[in-house]
Amino acid sequence: MTQPSSGTPLASDSLEIRDSRTGSTYSAPVRTEGPEGDTYMRAMDLRPIKQEAGEFGLLSYDPAFMNTASCRSAITFIDGDKGILRYRGYPIEQLAEKATFLEVAYLLRNGELPNQGQYDSWVHDITYHTYVHENIRKFLEGFRYDAHPMSMLCSATAALSSFYPEARDIHDPQQRYISTIRLLAKLPTIAAFAYRHVKGLPFIYPDNDLSYSENFLSMIARMSEPKYEANPVFVKALEVLFILHADHEQNCSTNAVRAVGSSHVDPFSAVAAGIAALYGPLHGGANEAVLRMITEIGDKKNIPAFIEAVKSGKGEQRLMGFGHRVYKSYDPRARIVKKLADEVFAQVGMDKDLEIALELERIALSDDYFVSRKLYPNVDFYTGLIYRSMAFPTDFFTVLFAVARVSGWLAQWEEMILDKEQKIARPRQIYIGHGERQYADPLSDKFPRTRKDSIRK
Ligand code: ACO
Repeated sequence: MTQPSSGTPLASDSLEIRDSRTGSTYSAPVRTEGPEGDTYMRAMDLRPIKQEAGEFGLLSYDPAFMNTASCRSAITFIDGDKGILRYRGYPIEQLAEKATFLEVAYLLRNGELPNQGQYDSWVHDITYHTYVHENIRKFLEGFRYDAHPMSMLCSATAALSSFYPEARDIHDPQQRYISTIRLLAKLPTIAAFAYRHVKGLPFIYPDNDLSYSENFLSMIARMSEPKYEANPVFVKALEVLFILHADHEQNCSTNAVRAVGSSHVDPFSAVAAGIAALYGPLHGGANEAVLRMITEIGDKKNIPAFIEAVKSGKGEQRLMGFGHRVYKSYDPRARIVKKLADEVFAQVGMDKDLEIALELERIALSDDYFVSRKLYPNVDFYTGLIYRSMAFPTDFFTVLFAVARVSGWLAQWEEMILDKEQKIARPRQIYIGHGERQYADPLSDKFPRTRKDSIRK
């Protein structure tokens, strides 16, 4: 298990700050750290800046964390301008081509690729924890026939916490390990059960003879055949998509897992918070939103009008699957996914919606509105099309994202737990409400016969 060293920064310089209110000057260390030379100052170095003794001190205000690092992490590196994504130093392109998803999950957690013995025991442990308690099955059966599978996944993951009370001992490495194994092993089972519930199909229990992705496809698609044989192109596609979605440093859902986990709640509850964050259409829900958008466009001839509506902000419509908070040249995952889409569509045939997507991408990439705002296709622009060609329903796409991302969430959660600098996450605020005012009962004069009055009597 690796964690960011809390040693001395590689180099240090300082920022001289002059407060024009008082004429005082302050010196704040500027730190340069890590292989890519990230520079930063500590926000707490602003605190001594004050007009009078006894004042709270200067706060930094950063809604949506646009320029605030919440942690020092050794897991994932992104260079948004150059379109680089690396897990533990390994380029995403190499991992997508050569590694398996479980190898990547091991790498994210442990910092190094496993040797054969480590890999075998990791896969063995995950394979033999895929079954869920029968009460989880009954719990899922309690959902309505049209429940969104993300709601089911989120609730069932939170419910798992009640089955493993020992997981609350987050300071025990063995408990952290077994919770990690359980989450990696059981999320695909819960996801597949949610799928079968909505379809009204009997649940298929895990088959421990199959690989991680084959078993998942078996639990999704197996009918009366005694042994499920997955389409190898689909197995490969799923492995690659899981690897691409495994981690993405401090995104919305990872931040949620870290923030909730910082209260020292058990990891099942923290991961449930991550699933809830991922559900939103601006995050993991985007792949679903892309497909809905393409269906709404309906035909290539409608694209120019749609693009105009996006540009004019009519109905606050966005081009879903375009744009990213971090990637401002291209999303390296989108390039891999586009190639993967070609391979899958070579097998299942070209589809009208893919043609719309290609045309949409072509028009947007040559339109100044998108170019000037550095809006490029993100990973989700094509993933939905691949998933649908594999016969996954639209509202299941984000579930597939969650099944992969749990590997990153858990690595990030454990890094946070082991990071001696971390405390319970608790941002500050700039208070803009009323100053102190006195309570004068507005109900007593105007509404003498209110319920409030009767309670008082
Ligand atoms: N379509 C049209 N315009 C857009 C889009 C888009 N997809 N994304 C950003 N813009 C515009 C904004 O309107 C804004 O324009 P303005 O400067 O004229 O006001 C400008 O580009 C900057 O946009 P912000 O919202 O400030 O960018 P931010 O970094 O906050 O948002 C986000 C990033 C949320 C991903 C955004 O690009 C978006 O909503 N994209 C569509 C949803 C999507 O695909 N999400 C998936 C992200 S990847 C993932 O989570 C796995």
